[in-house]
Amino acid sequence: MADNYLEKRFEEFRQPEKKVVRKGGPSLDSLLLRNRSTRGFSHGRAVSEEELRRIVEVNTKIASSKNQQALRFKLICDPEGAARINAAVKMGALFRARRAADPSAPQQDCPDLPLPGTEPQAFIVIYGTHTEDASLDIDLGISLQSMSLKAVEMGLNCLMIRAFNREAMLSFPGTEGLYPLAVLAVGKSVERIFLVPRAEGSQDYYRQDGIHYVPKLPLEKILV
Ligand SMILES: Cc1cc2nc3c(=O)[nH]c(=O)nc-3n(C[C@H](O)[C@H](O)[C@H](O)COP(=O)(O)O)c2cc1C
Repeated sequence: MADNYLEKRFEEFRQPEKKVVRKGGPSLDSLLLRNRSTRGFSHGRAVSEEELRRIVEVNTKIASSKNQQALRFKLICDPEGAARINAAVKMGALFRARRAADPSAPQQDCPDLPLPGTEPQAFIVIYGTHTEDASLDIDLGISLQSMSLKAVEMGLNCLMIRAFNREAMLSFPGTEGLYPLAVLAVGKSVERIFLVPRAEGSQDYYRQDGIHYVPKLPLEKILV
């Protein structure tokens, strides 16, 4: 028996089982898949102002046309502010259009969203320091997608909203002289959403048995 045999056995015994440490975070593909437009949020999971700040912080690292950095952000997570925004945004336009075209369409398959009790309770309102132009809109898109991916990384979900009342977004302090561009709703999703291959002729998202399906074109269809 080697001199230090017992010490070695004792060390092996003391050492906890080696844990597999996964390096790095989730892949971009998995974040993109989970980054679905969400129109129903849990009221049991509040989003804090600190979390909204962390999401907005991605804007200090992203591309910007001529590096103009002309976007500004208002954080809303108080009940009164959230109620004001919920009254000023529209969700699920395709379902509204379907109900208007066919009033007999089953309500469950084209519901008025958000469903009662699932309204978002936290928002980031995005403004421009100048009027909208193509460069600012591209900056806005980069910002919205970057913030949404950050939210997903944090276990949250978002909805980018462009159908909203501009005046209402100018009623918040500190927004004087700014131009409202978009609203990002943030929260924990209560929806079940799946991507499906897009069939010829229809890009419309749809619902069946309470599940939201989003048709996407496959790679071969978008290569030219
Ligand atoms: C620029 C932009 C504006 C949008 N505006 C709204 C909106 O006002 N209301 C809404 O319910 N969804 C809005 N959406 C969400 C789209 O409907 C959604 O991206 C689309 O149905 C595809 O679903 P997905 O994001 O899960 O892939 C918007 C998306 C983008 C990119």
